Amino acid sequence: MGVLDEAFIQAPEHRPKTHLTNSGDYILSNEIPTIDLSSLQDPHCDKTALAAEIAEACMRWGFFQVINHGLSLDLMRRVEKTVADFFSLTLEEKRRVKRDEVNPMGYHDGEHTKNVRDWKEIFDFFLQDSTTVPATTEPEDTELRKLTNPWPQNPSDFREVCQEYAREVEKLAFKLLELISISLGLPGDRLTGYFKDQTSFLRFNHYPPCPNPELALGVGRHADAGVITVLAQDSVGGLQVSRRSDGQWFSVKPNPDAFIINIGNCMQVWTNDKYWSAEHRVVVNSSKERFSMPFFLFPSHDTNIEPLKELLSEDNPPCYKKYNWGKFFAARNRSDYKKLQTESIQI
Ligand code: SIN
Ligand code: FE2
Repeated sequence: MGVLDEAFIQAPEHRPKTHLTNSGDYILSNEIPTIDLSSLQDPHCDKTALAAEIAEACMRWGFFQVINHGLSLDLMRRVEKTVADFFSLTLEEKRRVKRDEVNPMGYHDGEHTKNVRDWKEIFDFFLQDSTTVPATTEPEDTELRKLTNPWPQNPSDFREVCQEYAREVEKLAFKLLELISISLGLPGDRLTGYFKDQTSFLRFNHYPPCPNPELALGVGRHADAGVITVLAQDSVGGLQVSRRSDGQWFSVKPNPDAFIINIGNCMQVWTNDKYWSAEHRVVVNSSKERFSMPFFLFPSHDTNIEPLKELLSEDNPPCYKKYNWGKFFAARNRSDYKKLQTESIQI
């Protein structure tokens, strides 16, 4: 029994029932569908079969795993190495590139989800080294702000390797977006116009071993706010997904060569609830550190998110009101974020 600061302690109903203990007491599950993307290597391939598999996964789970995705495994190993080297620096050195009130990118070791502290430290950077977001959350205020990434000096190859990786993950994200559009019966490029000035970013998560894994979580339960998330993880495991049909938690079997894809709130709104933005969380363990790398595909700041007209009908009226992505994003990073953070994504 270790000693855990009370800021990390989850309410009893949110504590994990299964966590990786020293005795290996951990339930693995293969329930999340695995989709093999190798047919995409052929530029003339018929995408409809893949799109059908994706539709099924997005409706039932909102989560799936992709293999043979075309991203270099050597590049994945290189970015994992430089990320581990960064997190092994002293706290003082990491805090030289820490997030602040204005710029949400950089290092942070005090993340909270639903007001409980997460057992992790993170480093975030925008895909575009300079990204435009609204300066305030007032609806009538049109002032914009350019935010730039705070890069550490050390490791010396960090920026270069991270940016190379980010460009490759972005390509994969857009291939998936095309397949998702096709899976909805829409043209493959139907959604690309929303990303001209995208606010997408990459996050590196480091979950150190935790003295009380039965009380805390690496990340508390949440749904992702963006369009889709493309996540790489190491072989430790800890990600759990809530099943759409009954809310039961399932552990995702880790595969360091695969990517986990999940639907975010924007996609759930665009599809008027056809596709599901599932709640997920991360359980920690007392013996092994874990690393993961989610890429959050976010639209341009000026995008208004609302159900896509082509998908609506008399029998399927809109379940959501329109909201502006940039204002939402700016609010998330400020004190007024709390006001906007609700249990449900019903806007
Ligand atoms: C997250 O959902 O924020 C992190 C997921 C993971 O580390 O597996
Ligand atoms: Fe998430």
